[in-house]
Amino acid sequence: MLRRCTGALLAVALLICCMACGQTETGSAQSREEDDKIRIGMSFDSFVIERWQRDRDIFVSVAKELGAEVNVQNANGDIEEQKKQIDYFIQKGMDVIVIVCIDSDALKESVKKAKAEGIRIVAYDRLIKDADIDLYISFDNSMVGTMMGQALVDAGIAGGNVLMLGGSPTDSNVPLVEDAFRKVMRDNDVTIVDSAHAEGWRAELAAAYIYDHSAELTDIDAIMCGNDDLATQTIRALAENRMAGDILVVGQDADLAACQRIVEGTQVMTVYKPVERLATRAAQASVALARGEDLSAEDVTMLENGSHEIPYIGLEPISVDRDNIDEVIIGSGFHLKEDVYLNVPEKMPQ
Ligand code: BGC
Repeated sequence: MLRRCTGALLAVALLICCMACGQTETGSAQSREEDDKIRIGMSFDSFVIERWQRDRDIFVSVAKELGAEVNVQNANGDIEEQKKQIDYFIQKGMDVIVIVCIDSDALKESVKKAKAEGIRIVAYDRLIKDADIDLYISFDNSMVGTMMGQALVDAGIAGGNVLMLGGSPTDSNVPLVEDAFRKVMRDNDVTIVDSAHAEGWRAELAAAYIYDHSAELTDIDAIMCGNDDLATQTIRALAENRMAGDILVVGQDADLAACQRIVEGTQVMTVYKPVERLATRAAQASVALARGEDLSAEDVTMLENGSHEIPYIGLEPISVDRDNIDEVIIGSGFHLKEDVYLNVPEKMPQ
């Protein structure tokens, strides 16, 4: 009895073992596939500004087409949260970490930790300073500042007064844009009467500046806003002071609201940055880095970030005003004609 029972037990045990073995075979094939899959972690500053959702969607879809899977995190403007997200990506063993950094000076240690684990780092749109990153990809920010300045000069501001309401002081793009803008102002005898910065790119701070300084604004000919979101709040505050349209305003990003203001006449220009090109190129480069390939394409140059010479891809922005908005913004499909001309349908081209 005991023997028979043992025999039966043995048979059952063997059957279970075979089933388990079968399962392990399929399981390990699956996990091999998982292991082969390129894994990218992407940490954004925030999604408050219109453009970033487009950046995310295009990056994720191109990376997916190239066989990678992307884990997207939003740090909501909190640098400590962004560091935690990078730690999480390191712990998960990502192949590449792509970062839109909140503070260009604050990620040295995080990058060091990731690099020690063999993870490649891509600084997306904003430079990470003093760190051994594998790629910095952005639009030429100096060109953005030059275009803003030139648009004001073309609108007749030479010899006048300008106010600068810039973006986050911890964003490395900000001084690049501003230095180039200041140069155009210097070359055209324009006085910069004041310069303020919106911490964390919080646009309500631009409106607060206008309310607090409304009495002094009568001498100002133009306001350079760090981006279109700051321009939105600036122009709203100017309108409340019955000054919208009197003071020339420029911004960047080609947000829908800014494009609407350009056709309505309350904003002079914006800078269109074709983010689909940035996101596509960044996704391609990230996948190449994950595969251990060299980034030696024609569009890659070297740039010094404080401690290292790092590969850099700089894309060209495009200046947009009343004269070329139909061709550049509507023609490219960035915004729909009906949306841009929503408030002034009578001006809509046929
Ligand atoms: C980007 C701008 C953007 C801003 C706020 C900057 O680093 O270059 O396009 O408007 O951040 O998110």
